[in-house]
Amino acid sequence: MNLKTSKPQNLKTSKKPVGFFDSGIGGTCILNAFRKLCPDVETVYIADSKNCPYGNKPAEEIIRLSEANVKKLLKKNCKMIVIACNTATAAAIDYLRAKYPHVPFVGLEPAVKPAALRSKTGVVGVLATAGTFHGRLYNETKDKFAKNVTVLAVVVDEFVLLVERGETSGAKVEKVVRAKIEPLLKAGADKIVLGCTHFPHLKAVIEKVCAGRAEVIDPSDAVARQAKRILEKMK
Ligand code: DGL
Repeated sequence: MNLKTSKPQNLKTSKKPVGFFDSGIGGTCILNAFRKLCPDVETVYIADSKNCPYGNKPAEEIIRLSEANVKKLLKKNCKMIVIACNTATAAAIDYLRAKYPHVPFVGLEPAVKPAALRSKTGVVGVLATAGTFHGRLYNETKDKFAKNVTVLAVVVDEFVLLVERGETSGAKVEKVVRAKIEPLLKAGADKIVLGCTHFPHLKAVIEKVCAGRAEVIDPSDAVARQAKRILEKMK
């Protein structure tokens, strides 16, 4: 991968938009949470749906796709970029930060830390893509904060495809969700981490399946708050 540092621009200008990208529509859960917090800030969102899913692609390819999204957002004059995708963050955030040092990037990783700290059973379930589970961020956080907890990591590409097709409720969706989550609940998980931005779109169904047995952890609001904090520091 060719890593040439790009030229700095004046990114502090407040009227410039904040950019968001994801492999598809998943990251709109982060975008919507951010818009609620910062209704006056302009935003640009890229859904790279023609290349979705990213989850099972090699890291090199995810880096290439992520950089193409970043270039488009910089052409739109974005002053900050939220990588609204765990998979793209896992593969590309180090590369992007090194190549575009003047651009503030906000990324995502599965909320293993709060899940591990709050678990009473000592078992937590994490739903994410293969790319996220192979990434440095997830593994470092798990080693640091979830040493004394059993972490059940499950790849659920099916959920991504459902959400991209706009199927987020109904009996068929519930059956797919139940098939993936029931084994985690039976194994004692009392926290279920939504480690992919497509999954909050299925939150109502996931919460129905988990009701009374496990808390569903959705990081959307925390990521939006982090993006707001970074934006305020830039002003
Ligand atoms: N929404 C992306 C994430 O947060 C992944 C979906 C995909 O596999 O493209 O990881």
